[in-house]
Amino acid sequence: MRWSSSLALLVAFIQIAASKPLTSKRWDEFDVKHAWADVPKGWELHGPAPADHALDMRIALKQDRFDDLVSTLYEVSDPYHSKYGQHLSKEEVEALVAPHPDTVSVVDSWLSAHDIDLASVQRDNGGSWITVRVSVEQASRMLNATYGVYRHAKTSDYVVRTTSYSLPRILHDHIGVVTPTTYFSTVRSMKATSFLQPQIEALQDGDADIASSLVAPDPTPLFPRAAAPRSLLRVSVLCTTLPHMCPKLLPRTASGLLAILNSLRTTLTYKTDAVGGTFTHVQVNGGENDQSNPGDEANLDIQYTEGMTFPTPNIYYSTGGSPPFVPDSNTPTNTNEPYLDWLNFIAAQTSIPQTFTTSYGDDEQSVPLDYSTNVCNLFAQLGVRGSSIMFSSGDDGVGAGDCLTNDGTNTKEFQPNFPASCPFVTTVGGTTRVNPETAVSFSGGGFSNVFAQPSYQASAVSAFLKGLGSTNKGLFNTTGRAYPDVSAQGQGFQVVIGGRVSSIGGTSASSPTFSGVIALLNDFRLSQGKSSLGFLNPLIYSTGAAGFNDITSGSNPGCGTNGFTAGPGWDPVTGLGTPDFGKLQSLIG
Ligand SMILES: *[C@@H]1O[C@H](CO)[C@@H](O)[C@H](O)[C@H]1NC(C)=O
Ligand SMILES: *[C@@H]1O[C@H](CO)[C@@H](O)[C@H](O)[C@H]1NC(C)=O
Repeated sequence: MRWSSSLALLVAFIQIAASKPLTSKRWDEFDVKHAWADVPKGWELHGPAPADHALDMRIALKQDRFDDLVSTLYEVSDPYHSKYGQHLSKEEVEALVAPHPDTVSVVDSWLSAHDIDLASVQRDNGGSWITVRVSVEQASRMLNATYGVYRHAKTSDYVVRTTSYSLPRILHDHIGVVTPTTYFSTVRSMKATSFLQPQIEALQDGDADIASSLVAPDPTPLFPRAAAPRSLLRVSVLCTTLPHMCPKLLPRTASGLLAILNSLRTTLTYKTDAVGGTFTHVQVNGGENDQSNPGDEANLDIQYTEGMTFPTPNIYYSTGGSPPFVPDSNTPTNTNEPYLDWLNFIAAQTSIPQTFTTSYGDDEQSVPLDYSTNVCNLFAQLGVRGSSIMFSSGDDGVGAGDCLTNDGTNTKEFQPNFPASCPFVTTVGGTTRVNPETAVSFSGGGFSNVFAQPSYQASAVSAFLKGLGSTNKGLFNTTGRAYPDVSAQGQGFQVVIGGRVSSIGGTSASSPTFSGVIALLNDFRLSQGKSSLGFLNPLIYSTGAAGFNDITSGSNPGCGTNGFTAGPGWDPVTGLGTPDFGKLQSLIG
């Protein structure tokens, strides 16, 4: 469009002459930030949100030096780089993620224009995340959004969300995401990647024959029998059938720290059982430890990580979920979202665990792009500080159900999972059986439609694609971040739930198991006076690859297809394979 300069001058003159300040106008010039074509699957509108209902609005400010953060991440995680292992401190990371002063200033003036007292703004993570308490009415005006109360049909969770939101045009370059807006999942509505397997007979406590057969044979008992918590017995099943996965020695220093992120209402029934076991339960922002509601997932995670890593301290984080949101009350609610509370909580700690495992995920397409990008960036931040972050790859193979896209076109496409698809985490698929160990059919795997393929996996993935030819053509995105990176056993885990032993399967078993191996390797590195392993992927796709048993059979069907097939080298069913503790130990020593 051509404007004559005289017209522009005239417009400027009229604006100055008008009684409203010039700046007020631009806050009304909205561009859509994110919008859904339909109400997300599984949710239904319950009614309008009360105008005076209070929300804790979280705003991610654009990180001024995020590119530097990512290049630092790759340097300190690349075993060939001179800076390998030189992880950054909390303060150094905060300097990299801090927003530019211009960003702070323009966002502050927007908040002030909406009568928000800047003194009440909470600023976290180097100022890159801010939290303000606003009413639904205020939020609706700030974001040109229509907030409603939505109900999740299966869990009866209620959330206050909108199906679209906008930002003043001039803020788009300064703000990454605002929550709560269009990301509907809650801690309870997410898919846990584990399930009971009643068809697999559970070992029973008190069965002396079984119990004695579970302890690794002398002369290298994994753990002294008398001192062994029961979880160790169960883990030694794994270790006797798959001896290569387990260490011959106890961790020497117990100086590593392994953390489990769990978002569910859980009972850690194992706590009283774990004689000598050590874990701490940290509740973030109202996370629950509800003794009346046993959580399979939590028990599975803690029993196996602890069993694998004893006496390395384990920390168990649970976030959100409490108190339940009552749709028609005016009690303020926190945003009730699975990752942000926890990630900001961890980022604020001066010293953080070296190993994390998490067993939750969502279909990537159900997570708004602005939300997934900003959450994924926070994982990069933990990697720079020297933590290894593991996620289970999902239990639906290449996708569950009809696998139709939610962009309004209803196209059939494989359904990648998030955060499994984030390039800054290590994603763990599932295997079963021994001699040969093979892919388990539910092992989640595929290619992101959101995150581009990182260079650390380029050659592994291109070799796979070459061999694949035209199979599944059009059903997945060949340029996306491919996962899983690795795998571990995922069937028939023996877990004590409510005092009884049950068989549980899922990549939720695989991720804690793999993380147990990593925690032990971290412990070994620390005992040698070396750094923790940090972000693993650049290592495991290069010098570490030789430390994995390649899994070359099995497949992960889904979406009405046969899915992908495991074969020699990396594949989107089992990644590079399952860990061999001894080999990895010598590769990283
Ligand atoms: C605000 O959103 C509504 C749809 O919800 C749209 O019709 C309207 O044009 C938007 N207003 C502005 C100023 O963009
Ligand atoms: C494929 O993935 C890339 C990221 O690598 C993304 O930009 C693109 O939109 C994706 N294409 C489709 C059709 O999802």
